[in-house]
Amino acid sequence: MLHLLTLADWTAPQVEAALKLAQAIKTDPAAYATTLQRRTLLMIFEKPSLRTRLSFETGMTQMGGHAIYYDTRTSPLGSGKESLADTAQTFSRYVDIAMARLFKHSDLEELAGYATIPVINALTEKAHPCQILADLLTIKEKKGTLKGLKLAYLGDSNNNVTHSLLVGCALTGMHIAVGCPDAAAYAPQPEVVERAQHIAGSTGATIEITAAAKRAATEADIVYTDSWMSYHVPSSELDERVARLMPYQVNEELMQCAKPAAIFMNCLPALRGYEQTAAVIDGPQSVVFDQAENRLHAQKAVLVTLLQQADRHAGATPHG
Ligand code: CP
Ligand code: NVA
Repeated sequence: MLHLLTLADWTAPQVEAALKLAQAIKTDPAAYATTLQRRTLLMIFEKPSLRTRLSFETGMTQMGGHAIYYDTRTSPLGSGKESLADTAQTFSRYVDIAMARLFKHSDLEELAGYATIPVINALTEKAHPCQILADLLTIKEKKGTLKGLKLAYLGDSNNNVTHSLLVGCALTGMHIAVGCPDAAAYAPQPEVVERAQHIAGSTGATIEITAAAKRAATEADIVYTDSWMSYHVPSSELDERVARLMPYQVNEELMQCAKPAAIFMNCLPALRGYEQTAAVIDGPQSVVFDQAENRLHAQKAVLVTLLQQADRHAGATPHG
């Protein structure tokens, strides 16, 4: 069963095919208006969301299917009355595909291990693959290509988005430079860097992790940042994080290091004055709302890809 728990679950050709499909769906959405007819997506949320929830639900509606929003706070799972294993085995009898936004990546892996339908990572503390597929689509639209471009990521890098960018850039032959404090609390997890380096070996991508923000941003085609206060980070850490991460803020001075035609990206939600200044995120180089829109198109491609794969796997017809 093909899932999407991290981008490393997918091969470079699978990612390329999904991006092509996303572009086709975006160009002619009406051609896919019945592709997921009678299909149901379960959406399990332990954390807040604007983009992920709305784009998945809208995507299912636009392709003729249905989505169920399931908040774990009102579930047997969330109240400790039911296990991940029983939850997954039960929902697999009702719905065709599931996505989950969970605190622990290991919980997502357990859920997928017991599910008999495809499972999509809608964000864990470790990875955010749906975001990065939308980002790759956005970069391809803006720059015409992916291979050979340089993406600079600045800021909190012990981070789901950074991890998925490392793998996404490696799979697509992009060069990635991560600028972050030289401390485990703020740097990408070593096993993710190793995995990305392994993939990069066959695609021509390069990976650099540096404590020098301007070095990371130099000659970049894309400058990317993410929240310093991810959903799982307690508010008590704010002062310390601001102090450690301010040297990595994306401001106009830092943008000067990148290529003049560089684009600025942030997966959102964003806080002006923290991970980037208002002048950057609201300025002419920012593509953050195109990026947000592309969540819809990229996820439609993910849903279609996984459901078609599951059908081939099972030789089955949709739940009726
Ligand atoms: N970028 C993203 O995943 O946004 P939400 O948290 O609003 O879903
Ligand atoms: N790193 C952020 C991404 C939000 C979409 C978080 O986990 O909250």
